[in-house]
Amino acid sequence: MIISTWEWIRLLGFLAYFYFTISIIFGLLRKLSFVKSHKNLIYHIHQNAGWLGLITVIAHMLVLLIDHYEPYSIIGILIPFSAKYQSLPSALGTIAFYLFLMVIMTSDLWIRTMNRSLWKKLHFLVLPAWGLSFAHGVLIGTDTENTLIIMFYVVSGGIMMLVLVARTISQFMKRVNISTSHNN
Ligand code: HEM
Repeated sequence: MIISTWEWIRLLGFLAYFYFTISIIFGLLRKLSFVKSHKNLIYHIHQNAGWLGLITVIAHMLVLLIDHYEPYSIIGILIPFSAKYQSLPSALGTIAFYLFLMVIMTSDLWIRTMNRSLWKKLHFLVLPAWGLSFAHGVLIGTDTENTLIIMFYVVSGGIMMLVLVARTISQFMKRVNISTSHNN
């Protein structure tokens, strides 16, 4: 089956968003106090999904360069708000890309040379990055009116919110336990 470059762009965009979502969800799950087993597997899914997200988003951007329907220039892709097509949603995608790129580079390549608390602060930039890529997909997408696609965004966004709430509660309980054990 031959599909057009525009369809490749959308497919690769969905894949990138999917992989980044999986990576963040598993990253958050790993530190939940009630997740006691399979920590290694969860870590590998977190790490590999992040890399797959980066590779597919780079492919998403490269196919935009060769598309004939709405061709992008390198500047339009790399400099936020310079794209002629859908300037704001395109800029959200570009900023999300830079944030994901920085998080992956600082995690897998530069972690040993970095201060741990700075690394942790930078790592949490995945959350605004995810929010920007969500907004980018919803605002720019030709498919956003398709029921299946709406379900995809609702389910992925819903699971992300649930895991974030679980992580916040788990961190809070950990702090309470530490302070009560210090007082005893
Ligand atoms: C982390 C970065 C990015 C993610 C996760 C992402 C994700 C997505 C997703 C999920 C879609 C499908 C939307 C749909 O068809 O309903 C999409 C489409 C698209 N994206 Fe991205 N994207 C990113 C970066 C970018 C960048 C940097 C640009 C260009 C500046 C861009 C331009 C486009 C275009 C033109 C479409 C097609 C819109 C259409 O279907 O009409 N994306 N992207």
